[in-house]
Amino acid sequence: MSDRLNVLLIGSGGREHALAHALVKSPLLGDLYVAPGNAGLLELAKKADVAESDHDAVIAFCKDKAIGFVIVGPEAPLVDGLVDSLTAAGIEAFGPTAAAAQLEGSKGYTKDLCAEFDIPTAAYARFSNCEAALDYLAAHPAPIVIKADGLAAGKGVTVAMTNDEAKAAIVECFDGAFGDAGAEVVIEAFLEGEEASLFALCDGKTAMLLASAQDHKPVGEGDTGPNTGGMGAYTPAPVMTTTLTQQVMDRIVTPTIDGMASRGEPFVGVLFVGLMITRNGPELIEYNVRFGDPECQTLMMRLESDLLELLIAAARGELAGKEAKWSNDVVLNVVLASKGYPGSYEKGTVIEDLSAAQALDGVTIFHAGTEKKEGQLLATGGRVLNVCARGKTVTEAQALAYRAVDAIKWDNGFCRRDIGWRAVRREKQVFPTRSS
Ligand code: AMP
Ligand code: GLY
Repeated sequence: MSDRLNVLLIGSGGREHALAHALVKSPLLGDLYVAPGNAGLLELAKKADVAESDHDAVIAFCKDKAIGFVIVGPEAPLVDGLVDSLTAAGIEAFGPTAAAAQLEGSKGYTKDLCAEFDIPTAAYARFSNCEAALDYLAAHPAPIVIKADGLAAGKGVTVAMTNDEAKAAIVECFDGAFGDAGAEVVIEAFLEGEEASLFALCDGKTAMLLASAQDHKPVGEGDTGPNTGGMGAYTPAPVMTTTLTQQVMDRIVTPTIDGMASRGEPFVGVLFVGLMITRNGPELIEYNVRFGDPECQTLMMRLESDLLELLIAAARGELAGKEAKWSNDVVLNVVLASKGYPGSYEKGTVIEDLSAAQALDGVTIFHAGTEKKEGQLLATGGRVLNVCARGKTVTEAQALAYRAVDAIKWDNGFCRRDIGWRAVRREKQVFPTRSS
């Protein structure tokens, strides 16, 4: 691995900005390109003017620029088979094939895999017609969870506390609210507990533990209001003790990797394990087949190993015996979003004083929906900035992150003021005399 590799990174979010931030530290990196990128990414990488959905154009770009390795950030191009197309064209790429990406692309696929390999998850049933789903509901009353089978940008899940809500969610799915993604519905038992996520890097045969994190999906403080892509996150998740992490690796992650391999659909990529820590132990809520956003931003600030080397080892099936090194710091990420998000919002509003926030020791800001125009930084998306701060505790990292947030001037932006609240409350119980 002595030759430098030109790398193409696919994506435009805070996740990809954080990945780029880690990639540029690697002595293995040649030129870094990004498609389509954002204002922050384009300070670290050259723009690749290709649409990720146009596989032929991506392949032609890779050949033209002598790209040796492609890293696919988001789920849509993975489910769409971009890695398969690149591999067929002889270009090395990191991420699962379309077949393996079904772990995220079809909730029913994952539930069947869990049933086949005895992986702990909520009891479930799959439906392709409304009548049968409603009959099942009559026999399995609320609380119950209704899920569109396919990718629905995080909006296809209803945790129904009443039968009326559950019925409405079923009818909505079959009425086409989520298009093809809702043509099939999974109904599953309601799980109670604390949620956490675990990330593992997989090479088709071996799963290497990365780290744990917790995110905040609802838009409102106290975890209220509609779900978003994620309003903030922190790593590590205090609920994920060493024992619990080992249980998740042994009972959930390893059987999944072995099961996928035995089905002839080996999983290569980042396995993002969404968990509910219940009274009976950890249960799988869902899989994603890529880094989480905003979780990735926090992970990349703690990673001390060479990211590019690890991703190449995963793509080549050479992870056995490797491990990733992490700093002992806690990192917390507060997402700044455009007012109105996750509904409609104004585009093109001006953000100022980012450098003042960025100058604080222990703070790194990753861009999501941003663009630079005539020297000004403009907000162009729903989630716009990720303000990440280090600390020895979540309480410390949280205080620093909000100091940085308060140094940024952006009238049209908002954030949740309580990112990390569960962990902060836990730390107060453990260290009751600490005032901060
Ligand atoms: P998902 O898109 O599958 O991660 O679901 C979105 C959110 O719905 C999860 O983060 C959980 O908060 C909640 N959820 C999903 N499945 C269940 C379940 N079986 N029991 C309780 N909550 C769930
Ligand atoms: N933060 C959740 C996700 O990336 O899906």
